[in-house]
Amino acid sequence: MTWNAKDLLGIEELTAGEIGTILDTAESFSEVTLRSVKKVPALRGKIVVNLFYEPSTRTQHSFSLAAKSLSAEVQPFSVASSSTTKGETLLDTARNLQATGADIIILRHPASGSARHLARALTASVINAGDGAHEHPTQALVDLFTLRRRFGRIAGLRVAIVGDVLHSRVARSNLWGLLRLGAQVVLVGPSTLVPREFENLGVEIHHDIDRELERCDAFNFLRIQTERQAAGLFPSLREYTAMFGMNATRARRLKPGAVIMHPGPVNRGVELTAEVADGPRSVILEQAAHGLAVRMAVLFLVSGHAPQGQGSDSAVQGASSPATTHNERS
Ligand code: CP
Repeated sequence: MTWNAKDLLGIEELTAGEIGTILDTAESFSEVTLRSVKKVPALRGKIVVNLFYEPSTRTQHSFSLAAKSLSAEVQPFSVASSSTTKGETLLDTARNLQATGADIIILRHPASGSARHLARALTASVINAGDGAHEHPTQALVDLFTLRRRFGRIAGLRVAIVGDVLHSRVARSNLWGLLRLGAQVVLVGPSTLVPREFENLGVEIHHDIDRELERCDAFNFLRIQTERQAAGLFPSLREYTAMFGMNATRARRLKPGAVIMHPGPVNRGVELTAEVADGPRSVILEQAAHGLAVRMAVLFLVSGHAPQGQGSDSAVQGASSPATTHNERS
């Protein structure tokens, strides 16, 4: 499978083959992440900018590490101390970053569609690190990679996505990726946060987590945003936790091998008890660890490199694969 896109904007637009290419390439890079010197020269001379208009721990940190591991220059950029505070637009900000040499812009922004807006206007690559409630593609790729590592496959798995699906970019990206790779997807949560319309996408919807405990291979819990309670979408955190939270009693009913996932940050005591979050079913820190290899793969592919994996290991050994330019590929 070749890779032709200069950007990564969402999972919805990817084929199963393209998702597989990213996961296979990440598999090649995961060996690099285990070395004492976690560095290959594949992106030497490239400039990567993290343009984050919302807070982030996992995504921003792992993209920075991934870019450095590929020998790119990572330019720090603080939105809070930038001319954004004087009213400069997202597009003007990004155009100025491109004019001063940025090859790849990693964007997190509260507006859905903001990554596509930039990608259309720039020759630099744009990677969507979360745009409003639309998509968070690299989180879904991390989750798919984690499942594939655990189960050896995605096809045929039954995966529950639990919580505030309506407002969750993680849920949307996961849903597209899981369906494309042949998993069964079950959305679980209160009817105000898991509306029936999602059934049109080919997923099941249930408002009772207990009926799914023995049936699912994985449960991916979404962070509850406390402002949703203020909006009256569920009565109280205590009631939400009682109905949809994972605790030790529920965890004992899971089928053998079933795993508990969470993109982070976890509200301990709300989506998961601390005992479950830190317990043997939890793969939360595996997800965080896989973020490095997955984001290396995405940076590598959008830079125009040939896919890695399935016996191809030139980037991993240090020799960058032949690259085409974005103009040649577009
Ligand atoms: N999962 C995730 O996007 O976490 P951060 O907000 O910390 O990047």
